[in-house]
Amino acid sequence: MYYKIKTYGCQMNVHESEKIAGMLEAIGYLPCEEEDQADVVVFNTCCIRDTAEKKIQGNIGVLKSIKRQRKEMIIAVVGCMTQQKGAAELLKKKFPYVDIVLGTSNLADLPQAIEAKRRGKKSVLLQDSTMDAAVKLPVTRTSFPNAWVNIMYGCNNFCTYCIVPYVRGRERSRQIDDVVAEVDGLIKEGYKEITLLGQNVDSYGSDLANGENFAMLLERIAGIEGKYRIRFMTSHPKDISSQVIDVMARYDNICNNIHLPVQSGSSKVLKEMNRHYDRERYLAIIDELRSKMPDIGITTDIMVGFPTETQEDFEETLDLVRKVRFSNAFTFVYSPRKGTPAATMPQLDAATKKARITTLVAEQNQITKALSEQYIGKVYEVLVEDVAPKAEGAVCGRTESGRLVTFAGSADLIGQFVNVKITRSQSASLFGEIQ
Ligand code: 5AD
Ligand code: SF4
Repeated sequence: MYYKIKTYGCQMNVHESEKIAGMLEAIGYLPCEEEDQADVVVFNTCCIRDTAEKKIQGNIGVLKSIKRQRKEMIIAVVGCMTQQKGAAELLKKKFPYVDIVLGTSNLADLPQAIEAKRRGKKSVLLQDSTMDAAVKLPVTRTSFPNAWVNIMYGCNNFCTYCIVPYVRGRERSRQIDDVVAEVDGLIKEGYKEITLLGQNVDSYGSDLANGENFAMLLERIAGIEGKYRIRFMTSHPKDISSQVIDVMARYDNICNNIHLPVQSGSSKVLKEMNRHYDRERYLAIIDELRSKMPDIGITTDIMVGFPTETQEDFEETLDLVRKVRFSNAFTFVYSPRKGTPAATMPQLDAATKKARITTLVAEQNQITKALSEQYIGKVYEVLVEDVAPKAEGAVCGRTESGRLVTFAGSADLIGQFVNVKITRSQSASLFGEIQ
């Protein structure tokens, strides 16, 4: 019996799919490449923007004809999309051949839901409970030498554009000892990079009894013996502390790399987004990061077209992008999400949004290109991650700052640290040769 998982969205979902794989393998399923060979197909969904939802719906639609020929195939839709108000009912109406719908907090129920379906139950819909942060599911890891580790679930911030707090519930931190024990085990197993995951890692511990915080967790993990790297995401400018920045700077094994979403360069828009920091505070954090870690790679998320964004606000975003010079930026057009405050405001027209994203992307591309060129001629330690997707006889990996480097080498290098001299660059990508 075979399974296929289709994953959409963020790293949290990528890791959740590893848990889905773990649960399916525990009840006897094996992975396969194509949906049409699978006995169980799981869609692990995202609803952060309309484009994500449309794509997923299109892909569920494709299965209709396969399911008509193979009635015993089980289709499950799980994750964020199903957790929106009314979404499960809508899914069942649009795609009546979907067998199982589970919300983000009911993931652990997937094996029982599949068993029930195989025993002939008509369809299964669950989306109510709140999964405790202590629940441990089996994991089939698929991203060696990196291992994802959840440190917390949910989000309390309610940024006015964002659906996440509605579909993932309130913040729940895992116990510090549980996280440290998991990381310790992974390093002993040979993983070389640990990426800590949370919607807002900087508020880790605020719900724990003993005053633990993210800096303390980082320090405990960095003290584990061995040669490995620590990364984490996502940081929030309203909560990041000097203590966290100091710990990052103090420990060599914590990568000098941070993803710090700014969203907008306008203090007025940031206020309307409910972000709880302003432009000046954001720039001050960048200064502190760079003064303590001069070679730090900083990436960000930026949104254009928030309902109240004027041309002047947008220009402030452009100005901030020019000032900070991010290594890379993930840029998005604001997409109204039903049930969030910003969705009820008057919206900007599509042409304005399109013009702004085009200008922003062009500006950032220039910066990314110029910063990439600065790597040329220097030697960096790279952790080899995989064979290069497009080049024969080549592998790829990352510098500590988070830059992807491609160079000649074979698959047996995966999981090793090698020194690579950078010889050329192409936008955000670097190319080099082993020293
Ligand atoms: N529309 C567009 N982008 C969004 N993001 C979050 N919500 C929305 C939305 N409604 C972006 C933010 C966030 C990233 C993960 O997705 O920039 O940091
Ligand atoms: Fe969404 Fe804001 Fe929470 Fe990030 S911090 S998940 S943008 S509500």
